[in-house]
Amino acid sequence: MDLNSVYQRLNTGSKKWSHYPNDVLPMWVADMDFPVAEPILQALKGRLEHPLLGYSVAQDALRQTLVTHLANHYDWHILPEDLVFLPGVEPGVNMALNTLAPSGSGVLVQTPNYAPLLSAPANWKLPRVDLPFRADANGQYPTDLAALYKALPSVGSLLLSNPHNPLGKVFDREELRAIGDACVQHDVLIISDEIHADILFDGRRHTPIAALDPEIAARCVTLMSASKAWNIAGMKTAFAVIQNAELRERFNEGRMGLVDSVNVLGLEATQAAYRHGAPWLAHVNAYLQDNRDYLADAIKTRFPGIHMNLPQSTYLAWLDCSALDIEHPQRFFLTQAKVALSEGLEFGDNCGQFVRLNFGCPRPMLEEALLRMERSLQQLRDR
Ligand SMILES: Cc1ncc(COP(=O)(O)O)c(C=O)c1O
Repeated sequence: MDLNSVYQRLNTGSKKWSHYPNDVLPMWVADMDFPVAEPILQALKGRLEHPLLGYSVAQDALRQTLVTHLANHYDWHILPEDLVFLPGVEPGVNMALNTLAPSGSGVLVQTPNYAPLLSAPANWKLPRVDLPFRADANGQYPTDLAALYKALPSVGSLLLSNPHNPLGKVFDREELRAIGDACVQHDVLIISDEIHADILFDGRRHTPIAALDPEIAARCVTLMSASKAWNIAGMKTAFAVIQNAELRERFNEGRMGLVDSVNVLGLEATQAAYRHGAPWLAHVNAYLQDNRDYLADAIKTRFPGIHMNLPQSTYLAWLDCSALDIEHPQRFFLTQAKVALSEGLEFGDNCGQFVRLNFGCPRPMLEEALLRMERSLQQLRDR
């Protein structure tokens, strides 16, 4: 599999490639510029041999595939009936808040964070309570447990992003245990967005917070999908794991008329990804880790005004451009370098000097983006 080949995606309906003019290199929304794994393509083609595409539901085989994946990869032991299939993680987060968060209760969200997680509480008229991350001297982002303990008594739920977008942080077991235990103590619902769980660098393992303890699991809605790791976001297929039957029932009642069933092809793609997609994913994770290291080295040696901490997961780099002394870094790179990055302010109120760069692309594309950015800064200095 050659991940260095750049695929032409203009005129394919791609959101990433149609949002900006054609001369802009899109390094923003979280999808990768890699072709989908062969077993997934074969499963889709195979399904299309049958010319009927009616309403579909997850079959036992898919449920069993997921149960096995969670057990083998995260030592998380669930039952097939704990799974609820959804057309996306974002709808799942919103459904959980709408149906399970106590009315009017606060929602604790770590900042910066993925924009739809930040905005979700307001969708349901729930106040958002921010819990900021601060990088330590080693470039890690530990949860501020003292601030968490202070905030928990006054909120009804916690929204977790693990692995974290945009910081690329993989939460470790001890940290999750401290967070989970405190949520049990204060009777706080945990909504854990684990969509990036299978993208892991440097030999790391992913820990679902619900896997730590049955008492923690009893208050968890965990959301997962093959969409990020296997690059099938357009399939719009995800799943929730809700081990507490009472929570699951309320969650399912809340979907009525709002959140529909899952796409027929999405179910096929999900099954193929988790069952046969491991070799492809191992190759892609290694490639992404190399891209991450190449990017980090380029930032260090060629961009003295930009700082980046190493992401431990995701193909997203959170770049601190404060030292560039540019009023609006995202707009600068878009207009002057013709490189579209994600705007820091989407992820938090104090993040105007940050941009998020998607390095889930062939190396030549990453090189081109960095070259364009470097030239734009050189031109600025020459002015
Ligand atoms: C942390 C996180 N959650 C959710 C989503 C979106 O998930 P979905 O497309 O399944 O709604 C993304 C997409 O980038 C994400 O990064």
